[in-house]
Amino acid sequence: SLPQQVKIVEVGPRDGLQNEKESIPADIKIELVNRLTAAGFANIEAASFVSPKWVPQMATSAEVMAGISRKPGVIYSVLTPNMKGFEAALAAGADEVVIFSSASEAFAQKNINCSIEESIERFRDVALAAKQNNIRLRGSISCAFGCPYQGEVAPASVADVVRRLRDLGCDEIDIADTIGVGTARQVQNVMQVVAQEFPLHSLSGHFHDTYGQALANIYASLEVGISIFHSSVAGLGGCPYAKGATGNVATEDVLFLMQGLGIHTGIDLNAVVDAGQFISTHLGRKAVSRACNAIAAK
Ligand code: HMG
Ligand code: MG
Repeated sequence: SLPQQVKIVEVGPRDGLQNEKESIPADIKIELVNRLTAAGFANIEAASFVSPKWVPQMATSAEVMAGISRKPGVIYSVLTPNMKGFEAALAAGADEVVIFSSASEAFAQKNINCSIEESIERFRDVALAAKQNNIRLRGSISCAFGCPYQGEVAPASVADVVRRLRDLGCDEIDIADTIGVGTARQVQNVMQVVAQEFPLHSLSGHFHDTYGQALANIYASLEVGISIFHSSVAGLGGCPYAKGATGNVATEDVLFLMQGLGIHTGIDLNAVVDAGQFISTHLGRKAVSRACNAIAAK
């Protein structure tokens, strides 16, 4: 049987916006996060303290974190690739920091300019500092179902990184399909393999929708007991270091699916549609979400 409730981590403000070419003013990002907060998310990935030379769009992260209206109980998370990022996250009052590596050696080099092994060594200090400051620690693994540079990725490689992130003390680990190439049975297989290394209820599915498989992959993940999913309002997004990869699965579409399945999320779909319309209007294009556009057209 499927889980009765799921946790949806809204990653639009970070994963969704990081790849936008035009600089988006901080007040627009703040308004987006505030609207998402009002929609009922308990987890919002709000910003990213990475090098502004690598990801210019995230350069306003401190301003965004300082400007949002926080709702008690909501976890506002940020990406932290190193101690410099962690110090910024701490100063910004982040509730959760995300250390991110890859199941593919080639992608780790392109995205964080080091090997998987080196990334784990770099994260050791971040993990320790997070624990000392009572900040939640999440680990994210890119290219768990395929890599734009090396192609196939073995489930054992994903499990290996899960084990290393677990040993650093991660509270939660994301299994990410960076380029959206995974398909349902493969996803179930990888999830079952990694669940031997880390508690199933603390594993999440982070699916990009490049090949239109994200909803199928979410359903397949539900069938094997995964109950945490990442999604982006209006289907925003893409990774600057994964050419051609499109946005995350759209939050509105995921919520529509969960509603139909009778799975509780605690999130108001109509409010997310409004947030999706808000950011799409600012970006000057239609939302990449069937449900968002269908509901908005009513
Ligand atoms: P590097 O060039 O090897 O490191 O980058 P460095 O230490 O030599 O730093 C270079 C410059 O950046 C220096 O500035 C540092 O101070 C500065 P300079 O001295 O030249 O003026 N710097 C920083 N500035 C602000 N905050 C920091 C920071 N760190 C260094 N934290 C580094 C290594 C890891 C920093 C770089 O590769 C980087 O920032 N990478 C991040 C790339 C990224 O954000 N990718 C997208 C997010 S991951 C993703 O989207 C995948 C995910 O969604 C899951 C999935 O779908 O797969 C999570
Ligand atoms: Mg992503």
